[in-house]
Amino acid sequence: MIKILTIIGARPQIIKASALSRKIRDKFAEEIDEVIVHTGQHYDNNMSEVFFNELNIPSPKYNLAVGSDSHAKQTAKMIDGIERVLFQEEPQAIVLYGDTNSTLAGAIAASKIHIPIVHIEAGLRSFDKRMPEEINRIMCDHVSTLLFSPTTAGYNNLVREGFSIEQHLQPTANKPNIYHSGDIMLDNTLFFLQKAKEKYGNLNTHGDNFILCTIHRNTNTDNKDRLQSIFNALMYISQKEKIVLPLHPRTKKMLYSMFDSVYLKSLEANDNIDIIEPVSFLQMTLLESLAKVIITDSGGVQKEAYYLEKPCVILREQTEWVEIVESKNAAIADADFEKIVFTVQNYINNPPKNYPKIFGDGNASEFICNEIKNKLH
Ligand code: UD1
Ligand code: UDP
Repeated sequence: MIKILTIIGARPQIIKASALSRKIRDKFAEEIDEVIVHTGQHYDNNMSEVFFNELNIPSPKYNLAVGSDSHAKQTAKMIDGIERVLFQEEPQAIVLYGDTNSTLAGAIAASKIHIPIVHIEAGLRSFDKRMPEEINRIMCDHVSTLLFSPTTAGYNNLVREGFSIEQHLQPTANKPNIYHSGDIMLDNTLFFLQKAKEKYGNLNTHGDNFILCTIHRNTNTDNKDRLQSIFNALMYISQKEKIVLPLHPRTKKMLYSMFDSVYLKSLEANDNIDIIEPVSFLQMTLLESLAKVIITDSGGVQKEAYYLEKPCVILREQTEWVEIVESKNAAIADADFEKIVFTVQNYINNPPKNYPKIFGDGNASEFICNEIKNKLH
């Protein structure tokens, strides 16, 4: 039996971890013992608790309850908490997801005491070190022992950064193994779309004639000009189309602190922009599956749009998911009013027809569990 310690903290990590936990429970229960640590980076009920209940994730044995703070303070509290748990639990490996501050904290705490790191979603790069996520993932990758990239582009980034393609039988942080595993979130979307349909049918209070939008990236929320340009574009599009916007708490906070009451009132009075609280993953998957077009700056939502064959307008300067832009199923609009409006209209008029397989076959979790079992015993 190999004991792994899984670190989660932010919403997408809780969702991602459910794919591996489910596979461990269904197929590797005799071989892998998983202990979950929640850093408490996200803490609102609809950013955390709702996913545990709905996605059937084991309750975290530890909750570090770090809450929100500056990057340094938040990460420092997490490092301290995770190190204590590592000493107490003595796992054979730590599993880290994605690129949040919780990922970085886990990487620092584990690498310094020589606990092998399994990094899921390795190799992704925006090539923009102004993004906290770019810093987090580069640092984590370079101290990891097993690196699982969801895409060929991610795998190739690792090779370019000097990782060897040699497969070691007993990999270490000095001799890591890199893999193109496919994306565990594809496993999840396939699994939970079915569950969402069983639970809700195709019933959705928003119907199926709407555009889905999410915004939370700090480059958009913390810059008034960019945030205003995005909301101006949404207001313009809403003259013809209905928009559903589950609002991230960060965006809500910034919107209400940066904009004057006249602007906010016109937004609130707009019947075609439905601003709602963050929704559960089943509800989100259903919304994504029914939307005509998805507008987002989220990493996860871009991929889910692709899995559900929805064109995606990306509110960023670049994306780590370069393949979906190359295949023209998604387009970069940044925070540019005209690009956003034009790209949305273009996708409504000419929806893409083909969504080539880029992210594997929906069996990434099983592949990852096998490698953990075989390489880290
Ligand atoms: C974090 C990740 C980002 C990820 C996102 C997923 C980092 C650096 N960023 O960004 O990569 O895409 O999570 O959603 O790790 N807040 C609440 N309630 C909560 C959580 C947050 O109100 O439950 C508010 C707080 O005001 C907080 C702000 O949101 O200061 C930002 O939260 P934080 O976790 O620092 O960053 P995110 O923007 O959520
Ligand atoms: N998501 C959700 N409810 C919402 C918004 C997003 O369940 O109201 C899910 C979404 O389907 C995806 C994940 O949260 O699986 C993405 O998280 P987020 O956009 O916060 O972060 P990112 O992927 O950009 O790191």
